[in-house]
Amino acid sequence: MNKKILVIGATGKLGEPVARQLLKDGFKVKVFSRNVNKAKEQLDDRFEYVRGDVSDSATINTALEDCWGIHFSLRGGFTTEELNRVEYQGLVNTINAAKKNDVRRFVFLSIAVDLEKARWFPMADVKLKSENALMNSGIPYTIFSATSFYENFPQMIRSGKASTIGKQPNLWRFVSADDFAKMVSKSFQLDQAANKKFYVLGPEALTIKEGLSKYLKIVHPEIKKVSSVSIGMIAFIGTVTFNRELKYLAELMRFFEREKEYGDSKETDELLGAARTTIEQWAKNQIDNSGLN
Ligand SMILES: NC(=O)c1ccc[n+]([C@@H]2O[C@H](COP(=O)([O-])OP(=O)(O)OC[C@H]3O[C@@H](n4cnc5c(N)ncnc54)[C@H](OP(=O)(O)O)[C@@H]3O)[C@@H](O)[C@H]2O)c1
Repeated sequence: MNKKILVIGATGKLGEPVARQLLKDGFKVKVFSRNVNKAKEQLDDRFEYVRGDVSDSATINTALEDCWGIHFSLRGGFTTEELNRVEYQGLVNTINAAKKNDVRRFVFLSIAVDLEKARWFPMADVKLKSENALMNSGIPYTIFSATSFYENFPQMIRSGKASTIGKQPNLWRFVSADDFAKMVSKSFQLDQAANKKFYVLGPEALTIKEGLSKYLKIVHPEIKKVSSVSIGMIAFIGTVTFNRELKYLAELMRFFEREKEYGDSKETDELLGAARTTIEQWAKNQIDNSGLN
């Protein structure tokens, strides 16, 4: 296949599986990264690499010269200012460069919540503005509104202890990044996936604590208990230690407590294939891939 896709965020937790799946499915893949040496260490020489930053329009323009499509999966900061400057303005810069280079498909990763209602949270506001900018751009787009990923669970373990933040009563149909990557690749192959928004929801509805407990049972059977830390405590520690990441984490967990998963994945499942990997299967794959067994 001659189609080349520029993957912005290919070194990220959710962008890397997409870059790998695209390659597997015969696309040429160009990795756009601020640090090409680090990206090359993480990925391999089957990818093409280009140094770039979404805040620098010239680098996106050059990177896109020979690309048919873009996959945009970027995480760009912790404060409202950073989210707007890096994620939103970065997307606008990329849209403008894509127009100049006649890009034929622009895939964007968003989140499966009611964004209008959730606008109080800066990340949701940025996703909503980004979706609108892309839908109004005239470029054939595919938006993926994804629920929470299994890939978040390992981050809930620190120093041999597992914890969730806040009460988190809401149910999420967690999904694996590999299942999502297959959907993205398929969407690049189908004309019918153009100018559509797809909800990405996994096979089973679980609270964060239920999901984490299932993950622990398989990957960390030595951890018997999941503790719960209050959101206020995390926010307090973040404030007194001037830790922006921790402060953002507290806000993010408040967001997950207040907002519910949203959307219907029927069309996604029919056109792009359903996300069938269960938390148990995903956790077993983690062990197999790490060579722990
Ligand atoms: N986690 C979830 O459950 C979930 C659910 C739905 C949607 N999402 C969305 O998924 C997206 C990706 O998340 P992730 O966890 O994969 O992120 P991540 O692991 O933190 O990766 C961030 C990526 O962004 C790139 N990046 C950051 N600033 C950049 C810049 N200025 N120019 C170019 N690239 C830049 C980094 O590339 P380099 O460092 O190589 O430059 C890196 O590849 C986020 O937008 C998130 O909101 C996540």
